[in-house]
Amino acid sequence: MSSGAGRLRIALTKGRLQDKSVELFETMGLDCSPIRSPGRRLIHSIPNYPLDAVLAKAPDVITYVEHGVCDLGVVGKDTILEQGKSFYEVLDLGFGRCRFALAVKEGSDFYGTYKTRRIASKYPNVTRAFFEKKGMDVDIIKIEGSVELAPILDLADAIVDIVETGATLRENGLVPIEDVAQVSAKLIVNTASMKLRKREIEDFIARCEGELERRI
Ligand code: PRP
Repeated sequence: MSSGAGRLRIALTKGRLQDKSVELFETMGLDCSPIRSPGRRLIHSIPNYPLDAVLAKAPDVITYVEHGVCDLGVVGKDTILEQGKSFYEVLDLGFGRCRFALAVKEGSDFYGTYKTRRIASKYPNVTRAFFEKKGMDVDIIKIEGSVELAPILDLADAIVDIVETGATLRENGLVPIEDVAQVSAKLIVNTASMKLRKREIEDFIARCEGELERRI
């Protein structure tokens, strides 16, 4: 299986979710000093719990868990919705909360026309699913970064993107007109690991749950 000698392996999404994951694990009593001072090492062993952590970009967290090279992962629901899933999503970790929203240039009447709308997004699958549910035919343009530029440059009529504080939209003259989906960090588990390492994985999930309940 993924990790040897009875240790579990977890993939953490780098950046904001990494910081929040480490805070959660530390309040559970895990010594995360190897993750906090990683140096050049890529695998970080927790000294007081049988867990090794790797840091990865969100789509790679899913790839590692799906392939079973990591038993567990922490990843945003945004990436799960975009990439699809063949793993278990076992716990909402309560951090990384934001939403997907449909946003347009202030004053524009998105629904007031019969022509096919163009939607720019870093998340074409999420966008497609949203408009399919409405039975609305749209052209989707995949953008890799700063998707807010697309309506400003008249490349698109609207965007589907992550909104956290709303500041990026506001500062670029855009307004959210509809929520597409809620997003937060999820604990995910490889399907085979869930059977083969059931006891260790359930112990880890229970510790996470215990700490999350204590926080409420
Ligand atoms: C996301 C998103 C928006 C911004 C929204 O980008 O694409 O640009 O955050 O946040 P706000 O509502 O608080 O302004 P992120 O900063 O994650 O960077 P990315 O472009 O690399 O995804």
